[in-house]
Amino acid sequence: MYKLIAFDAYGTLFDVYSMGQLAEEIFPSHGQALALMWRDRQIEYTRLVTMSDPNPAGSKYYLPFWDLTIRSLRYVCKRMDLELSTVNEKRLMDQYAKLTGFEDSLKVLKSIKDKGIATAILSNGSKEMLATVVESNGLRPYLDRVVTIEDVRLFKTAPQAYELLLKAFAVKKEEILFVSSNAWDALAAKWFGFDVFWVNRLGHPYEEIGEKPNYEGNSLSKVLEVL
Ligand code: LAC
Repeated sequence: MYKLIAFDAYGTLFDVYSMGQLAEEIFPSHGQALALMWRDRQIEYTRLVTMSDPNPAGSKYYLPFWDLTIRSLRYVCKRMDLELSTVNEKRLMDQYAKLTGFEDSLKVLKSIKDKGIATAILSNGSKEMLATVVESNGLRPYLDRVVTIEDVRLFKTAPQAYELLLKAFAVKKEEILFVSSNAWDALAAKWFGFDVFWVNRLGHPYEEIGEKPNYEGNSLSKVLEVL
């Protein structure tokens, strides 16, 4: 029944929390906390940029996700009183650029393509960083499109961001299944009108507002069970 399965990138196909291991090597006993705070601050910056100027022509405060990722890393290190050298910033960002995919990411995309269903990424990521991470994980042959909000300069959860999928593919809203491990992203996509699959690897509670996702599973592979 679905004609397109669209995936969030960071945290869903690519393991952002694996950054904690390198962060732990650089800042012993602070790695996990740093990785969590880093991710939160990065997303907070996307919201700040979008909400402060939700102009359909793009936010005047827009900075590419790559830049917001570096700035949030710098902020969090200062906040945690950790000295971030230029060398270590580069080490962390180099790893971010080539984040490893979850073990089932490639298999799931390939199986969907084998069923004749279209696949896409819809991400806050900037074009270049998405191209690099998709390439380094060998996912390119299994994705019809990599859609980035860079074209609207408004980050998810702005409706204009989700709408990009309707512009990129000749499908109706209800023919799209949106897959995200970020509950906030799943919720906003549901509000937008997509059916959603929430990948809940860590057994977290869902958000306390909004509608529940159509489907939930503890791995990406579980998506295949609903197709
Ligand atoms: C993305 C981030 C928000 O890929 O996970 O859009």
